Amino acid sequence: MNVADSEVVVSILNRAGYSQAEDINDAGLILINTCSIRDNAEQRIWGRLRAISHLRKKRKDLKIGIIGCMAERLKEKLLETEQLVDLVVGPDAYRELPILVAEAEAGHKAVNVLLSREETYADISPVRMDKNGVSSFVSIMRGCNNMCAYCVVPYVRGAERSRNPESVIKEVKELYETGYREVTLLGQNVDSYKWIEKDKILGFPELIENVAGITPLMRVRFSTSHPKDISDDLLHVIARHENICRHIHLPAQSGSSRILKLMNREYSREWYLDRVNAIRTIIPECSLSTDMITGFCTETDEDHKESLSLMEQVGFDFAYMFKYSERPGTKAARKFKDDVPESIKSERLSEMIALQNRLSARSKKHDIGKTFEVLIEGSSKRSEEFLSGRTSQNKVVVFPQVNKTRGEYVNVMIERCTSATLIGKCI
Ligand code: 5AD
Ligand code: SF4
Repeated sequence: MNVADSEVVVSILNRAGYSQAEDINDAGLILINTCSIRDNAEQRIWGRLRAISHLRKKRKDLKIGIIGCMAERLKEKLLETEQLVDLVVGPDAYRELPILVAEAEAGHKAVNVLLSREETYADISPVRMDKNGVSSFVSIMRGCNNMCAYCVVPYVRGAERSRNPESVIKEVKELYETGYREVTLLGQNVDSYKWIEKDKILGFPELIENVAGITPLMRVRFSTSHPKDISDDLLHVIARHENICRHIHLPAQSGSSRILKLMNREYSREWYLDRVNAIRTIIPECSLSTDMITGFCTETDEDHKESLSLMEQVGFDFAYMFKYSERPGTKAARKFKDDVPESIKSERLSEMIALQNRLSARSKKHDIGKTFEVLIEGSSKRSEEFLSGRTSQNKVVVFPQVNKTRGEYVNVMIERCTSATLIGKCI
C-alpha cells in the first residue's frame, strides 16, 4: 500500500518539476512515507527521523516531511514536540504537496491531514519504483469501513472509496505496454470494491474479470480479501481465468470465535473454514496465506491453541504473524484492557512461527515433482547463473539460466526446496 502511495507522490512531485535524488545527501527534500499499524512501525520512523536529523545541521535548506498514516495520527506531536520535521501530509492530501513543499521552503511549517471521502488519485499515473520491471501494484480503493477493534487504519486512512474502473484498466494496459507482466490490485478490503454508475453496480468480481481480460500474458493478483466478504462469485471468476493467480491472502487474525467476536471481525472460525472449503473446492490448486495476531485482549491459552489448530487445519502456505500492539483511539484501546503480558505474547508468537515454518516447509515439499509456470523476475540473488521467478501460487522458484529473460514465462519442474525457495529445472 505504501509503495503504491509513494509512487503517486513521486508522480505528483515530478509534474511540479521536482526529480528524485539518487543519494540522500543530495536531496533538498526528504519525505518519509509512514505506517501506524503497529507501535514498532512508528518507533522505526522515529529512529529514522533522528538518524537523518544530522543532515539538517549540515544543510540549513534541507526540508524533511512525514507523509502517510503517522502524519495523520500524530500531526501536532510531529510538528511541535519533536521539531524534526517541516511538513506533515496525510494520505489524502498528496495533491497539495507542491504547495506544501513551497510553504516549507518559505520557512513555514506545512500541514495538511484532511481526510477525504472522494480522493482515489485515479487520474495520477504512478511513477514505478519497483526494481524488477515485471510486477507492479495498482491501487483500486482507499480507506476501510470495517471497524476491526484493534486496527488504526479506518482512523488514519478514512472511509472506503473505490476507484473508477476505467482508470484501473487504463493503468494496467499502460503497465503491460511498458513491459510489466504482473499486477496486484490493492485495497484494504478488495471484496467490497464497488463502482456505481447510473443504475449499474460494478463489484470486485467484474473488475478483476475485466482486468484479466486485457491480455492472458498479464498475471493478476489481489490483496487483501476479507473472510466475511469473499464470495463464491469471485472464486468462480478466478477459476475461469488462468492468469488470475492461484493465491489468496485471507487474514484470519485468530482461530477462536470468541476472540474474533471481540475483534469485531464479523465471522466465526466455522465461517472462515467454510470459506477455505469453498476455495479448495472451486480452485483446488490455490495457495493460501494469512495474517495472525497473538495476545489480543483476554486471549487465553485455549484461544491461542485454537489459532494454532486453525493454522494446522488450513495448512497455510505462508503467514504474517504479529503480537497485538495497542493503538490509541481504537475500540480495543478504549474498551478493553491490553491484559496479555508481553512475555506471553512473545511465547505464543514464537510457537506460532515455529508451526508456520513447519507448514511452509510441508507446502514446499508437496511441490517437489510438480511442474509450474513461472514468470521470470530476473537473476537469482545468489548467482547470475540462475534465474528467479514466481509460480501462480506466489512461491519463489530458482532454476538454471535458459534462453529466456525477465517478463517471460517458463515451465519449471521442481526438484528440491530450501526453507524459502523451490529449486528446479526448465522443461
Ligand atoms: N496489532 C497487531 N497487529 C495488527 N494488525 C493490524 N492492527 C494490528 C495491531 N493493532 C495486523 C493485522 C492486519 C495486518 C496488516 O496487520 O493482522 O491484517
Ligand atoms: Fe484494519 Fe480490519 Fe480494515 Fe483490515 S479490514 S484495514 S484489519 S479495519
